[in-house]
Amino acid sequence: MHLLQSLPLQTLLLLSSLLSPVSSTPTPPVLPPPSAPPTGGGGGESLQDRSAHLSTHVNPPGPPPASFQFRPQVVEDKYFQEPGGSEVLGHYDARFFRGIVEYDAHRPALRHLIRSYLTTFRRLGVETWLAHGTLLGWWWNGRVMPWDYDLDVQVSASTLTYLTEAGYNRTYHEYRYVDDDNTGQEQTKTYLLDINPWHTTKERLQGQNVIDARWVDISNGMFIDITGLRERDPEYAPGIWSCKNYHRYRTRDLYPMRESEFEGVTATIPFDFEKVLIQEYGTKSLVATEWEG
Ligand SMILES: *[C@@H]1O[C@H](CO)[C@@H](O)[C@H](O)[C@H]1NC(C)=O
Repeated sequence: MHLLQSLPLQTLLLLSSLLSPVSSTPTPPVLPPPSAPPTGGGGGESLQDRSAHLSTHVNPPGPPPASFQFRPQVVEDKYFQEPGGSEVLGHYDARFFRGIVEYDAHRPALRHLIRSYLTTFRRLGVETWLAHGTLLGWWWNGRVMPWDYDLDVQVSASTLTYLTEAGYNRTYHEYRYVDDDNTGQEQTKTYLLDINPWHTTKERLQGQNVIDARWVDISNGMFIDITGLRERDPEYAPGIWSCKNYHRYRTRDLYPMRESEFEGVTATIPFDFEKVLIQEYGTKSLVATEWEG
């Protein structure tokens, strides 16, 4: 006999809502005549066949009861907006986007982003450290990797709270630098520090707000992603820090932080940077001479 027919109705409903796409206006079930033979029959049914089978037979006529809805109850609106439409456009803040920054201007823009961020935070006395691909770039050559399209840094969750309470949310910061690319003239650029109000939420939810803050180049919308680490479960997992995207670190991997240099300015890096990098990118990322990012 068909396995599914021996399962209780509640399990079937559960399976059905897992297997069939969520639809806001469920169509009434089309019931086959009672004598209809089971479809497939040979035991070689694919998951999709089953889903079709299930939704034909057991979908209730109305929306499923609340206990069967898998969508989280919190309706999460995305705080940071990108122009959207492609992977490349995901690297720009919609408010300041004025077109894709061309290749030759992109490298310097990334360098000024990270330099302005690191020097401003240092001046404010706020701890922040390099993370992810940016940390890997530091490890290899103290610079942004040639293929990097974005920059990542981390702070502690309490730093995000401090920055908000101290009034730094939505503040603009001027950064002066001498153009090292050609003219040698002094230039000024302005950056926005914007803190996501969802930063206090511990859960990932639908993943719309895993970036807790941004440092945005207001001339073109390019930005640095800032994520906060917190000890998620101090009682049962003390010393384990993580971000909303489930990257996990031990206190002793992070602290005491080290001082180094990145793109020519002072930068902070986690104490056990090799472990952090190996955990995220594997041993090969630190030894291979050719690494396809
Ligand atoms: C930052 O400011 C914006 C604009 O006022 C606001 O919508 C947002 O909630 C603020 N963020 C925090 C963390 O309070």
